[in-house]
Amino acid sequence: MTEWVKVCSMSDLKKGEMLDFDYEGKKILLANINGKVYATDRICTHADADLTTGMLSEEGVTCPLHLSTFNLETGIPQNLPAEVPLKTYNVKIEQNEIYVEVA
Ligand code: FES
Repeated sequence: MTEWVKVCSMSDLKKGEMLDFDYEGKKILLANINGKVYATDRICTHADADLTTGMLSEEGVTCPLHLSTFNLETGIPQNLPAEVPLKTYNVKIEQNEIYVEVA
């Protein structure tokens, strides 16, 4: 079963920023790239690094530990050592509030 969860308002997540959010054991990353909001799991699939402490760019988020960059639309790593995609979540904006669909 899926559920839309209200996370925060758009004013809490400015362009170029990331934030983390936990929901029922899921550790989720929210990122704003040029006004578009993405949500993925936030623990790197290579090892136990929190991607919200990495670097955000137009290419995605770069892991702070071994520098794999993940595309936030698809979750797919763009370079080694990570090989497994991040889980991605649907996002919607309603009345300036950000909702994430968690399954
Ligand atoms: S922990 Fe992220 S690339 Fe190694």
